[in-house]
Amino acid sequence: MGLEKTLVLLKPCTVNRGLIGEIIGIFEKKGLRIAGMKMMQLDDAILEEHYAHLVGRPFFPGLKRSMMATPVVALALEGVDAIEVVRQMAGPTNGRKALPGTIRGDYSVSGQQNIVHASDGPETAKAELARFFKPEEILEYSLCTMGSLYASDEY
Ligand code: TYD
Repeated sequence: MGLEKTLVLLKPCTVNRGLIGEIIGIFEKKGLRIAGMKMMQLDDAILEEHYAHLVGRPFFPGLKRSMMATPVVALALEGVDAIEVVRQMAGPTNGRKALPGTIRGDYSVSGQQNIVHASDGPETAKAELARFFKPEEILEYSLCTMGSLYASDEY
């Protein structure tokens, strides 16, 4: 337990479908703090690094094209156990398999156009936050609602 930061990308499918505000609202309503937020146009270099584990897969060229179709919105979200919390909120990769109530389950019918990227563990979160944000773009402020979001011994 403890406050953690995690990286979320709102993918081009989310931008194209006019869902940026709605998806950010889901994270806000959950109680996560937005520590960083910006729009970025991704390119080959950053995608080959970000999806290094998928570079040899047949769907990789299509994945890259889909991730460059519009700018993405990068979010640095903070909360207790935020990495796991946000992965659970996103749901499994394929929107057709993701349960209703998860973001992918509610908004996606695709294994690729699946609304969000979310870091999958502490090491990845650290590397991905550094990949998408300069240190000064991650803002350390505290929400005045912390006492309503958590018990005092939870964070
Ligand atoms: P992956 O890291 O396996 O999943 P997740 O996003 O849930 O961490 O895959 C990264 C992205 O690659 C995934 O969000 C969508 C895309 N992708 C495909 O387009 N086709 C596929 O068959 C898979 C497994 C992933």
